[in-house]
Amino acid sequence: MPNKNNNENWKKDFPIEKQLSNQVNRRDFVKFLTLVSGGLMVGSGLVAATAYISPKEAVKGEHFICNKEDIPIGGTRSFVLEGSTIPYILIHLENGEFRAYEQKCTHLSCSVFYAPGSGKIECPCHKGFFDAMTGKVLQGPPPRDLPNLEVFFKDNSVFVKANLEEIG
Ligand code: FES
Repeated sequence: MPNKNNNENWKKDFPIEKQLSNQVNRRDFVKFLTLVSGGLMVGSGLVAATAYISPKEAVKGEHFICNKEDIPIGGTRSFVLEGSTIPYILIHLENGEFRAYEQKCTHLSCSVFYAPGSGKIECPCHKGFFDAMTGKVLQGPPPRDLPNLEVFFKDNSVFVKANLEEIG
């Protein structure tokens, strides 16, 4: 009998009905979701603003990347230049030409990749597409073309340097 009394007292002390308690939890959950999604939105905006505002690193000199036969047709090689943090991608296109682009999407800096045989560079984050021959935006939210490096050869070696046409 004393247990029954204890249970009744407990309910009087904390008079929250089960249904009401669920509503409070849902409300808290919605608040939590709002805060998280708001935080993500602000974070994405900051990443985009930083990428847009921060001065571009100037590529100096010529850089050896690999030998021609190191990348099969339709293949790619990722690289970073000495003294830089910018990731690049070297593409051996199906027509035999080579192209080098920054591997960061111009939208929100996701990593882009070459879709072999498609002639397109794809950003998986928001379905952005770039022309693999020119780096121009084909589709999706990217606001600018992919920055590129000039690719040239010394015998069988593949080199890159700043693209003077792009710098202006
Ligand atoms: S980050 Fe590439 S399309 Fe959004």
